[in-house]
Amino acid sequence: MPLPNILTIDGPAASGKSSLGRRLADALGYLFFDTGVMYRAVTWLVLKSGGDVNDEFGVTVLAENVLIDVRPPSKADGRACDVIVGRNDITWETRRPEVDANVSQVSAYKGVREALASQQRRIGLRGRVVMVGRDIGTVVLPEADLKIYLDASAEQRARRRYDEIIARGEEASFDEILAGVRMRDEIDSTRAFSPLKAAEDAIIINSDRLDADEVYQYVEALCR
Ligand code: DC
Repeated sequence: MPLPNILTIDGPAASGKSSLGRRLADALGYLFFDTGVMYRAVTWLVLKSGGDVNDEFGVTVLAENVLIDVRPPSKADGRACDVIVGRNDITWETRRPEVDANVSQVSAYKGVREALASQQRRIGLRGRVVMVGRDIGTVVLPEADLKIYLDASAEQRARRRYDEIIARGEEASFDEILAGVRMRDEIDSTRAFSPLKAAEDAIIINSDRLDADEVYQYVEALCR
């Protein structure tokens, strides 16, 4: 059987989609494209310019006019890809807590989704790609060859995020992280436009009782 040309991985925040996608893309020699960075980039640009994330019209105009480039990583500093706007590398800015807190709001806007989904689709249709997000198998690339939906309980996802932060030597409150995960789940899965859900033809994997290696081995076997 040939390898899937377009592979999509959707699922809730902190379910391990990016680590899995990155590893698969490396193994297959494919482009890894984490579509969440585009929503994060728009959110960061709105906040940086002093804009209001509740101003749907203003945020949408910005999303329609900004060119966000997502490229293979230029530095070995833990990044999955470079996020470039104009001449600026905003990769780490897109990971700031204020972006985490506001990105679900920005990604709920219909016009923002349409603007970014068409950029994502164009890149995805080139093929040889592992694309990660919330609506890739359902809306952006419904024709994908292999669709994975990676799930885990909110507690498990918050625990993994907490452990990552502590491992970096930073401070964190587990309860705050859990509350943030739950809030984003609620917004992502109840929004009116392309809410988070598994495609009918997706393979659903719950990773509560599986470690990252086990999930990877399983999906890698599915690909081959
Ligand atoms: O995966 P992430 O945490 O980087 O995603 C950031 C936000 O963007 C999150 O609120 C969900 C949203 N998102 C989306 O709505 N559709 C996508 N394809 C990717 C991300």
